[in-house]
Amino acid sequence: MSTQAEDDVIAQASSDRVPVTPASVEAFGAVPEADRAVAGRTRQFDTARLSKDFAEQGAFLYMEDFLAPEVTAQLVHSARALLDEVNRNYLPGHKQGGSVSRHTIDRLAPFIAELYRSKELIGWLEKLSGDKLMVSPPDDPHAYALYYYTRPGDHIGWHYDTSYYDGRRYTLLLGVVDESSCRLDYELHTKNPDVPDVPGSVQIPPGGLVFFDGDKLRHRITPAAANEFRVSLTFEYVTDPNMRPWRRFISNMKDAIAYFGFRQVFRQMIQRKGAGQ
Ligand SMILES: [Fe+2]
Repeated sequence: MSTQAEDDVIAQASSDRVPVTPASVEAFGAVPEADRAVAGRTRQFDTARLSKDFAEQGAFLYMEDFLAPEVTAQLVHSARALLDEVNRNYLPGHKQGGSVSRHTIDRLAPFIAELYRSKELIGWLEKLSGDKLMVSPPDDPHAYALYYYTRPGDHIGWHYDTSYYDGRRYTLLLGVVDESSCRLDYELHTKNPDVPDVPGSVQIPPGGLVFFDGDKLRHRITPAAANEFRVSLTFEYVTDPNMRPWRRFISNMKDAIAYFGFRQVFRQMIQRKGAGQ
């Protein structure tokens, strides 16, 4: 498989890139204030109606225009600036693509971490879901992560965002860059024997939103074609951040193999050991 096309895409995508430092990643105009930007959008929505839609669709909602434009612009800038930080993964028959974990985001794109923790955002998601939501524990690399589709065939096969926590795990997926034919295909109600399955498919533009209960939505991202470039940002929220040790082990191994690499996943563990904690 030639990587020339991918190199071209990345070269094009990063043509305005400067060396990555914490200052440079976010030195893009004025960094928006996350809470204010979210509140400016959510107060325009009919949240009661959206909450009803979410429940009727089996804990799933899609909005093609969610983020404030200045937030989308900041995310696009960060996603392009972090291209050198992408960890590539390939699991035959399941997934192929790249990702940047929360640990890298914390160092180089703290606005994303601020957006993840926005009380306005979490409060609005609580109204949608009817659940009390909490941020994921500090050692969970899925808490917030960027996912990159830059090579032909990059995709994620059918799966659930299974919760290894004692409570529910919700996924918020935000469109960042979409110069691709990739689609989010999904099936609603697969875990509800009383309701027929409902298939659906959406292409998520920059600033678009998908919000769902990870254990309920069967979904996949269809393969990218040549010369395509797509980045999405996902936030994970939980209703109970506790996790049994054996589930923690399984979750860590899965993340290390399938997503972020051992170095990123076990970075904190190693750091803790190094500090004698
Ligand atoms: Fe997923």
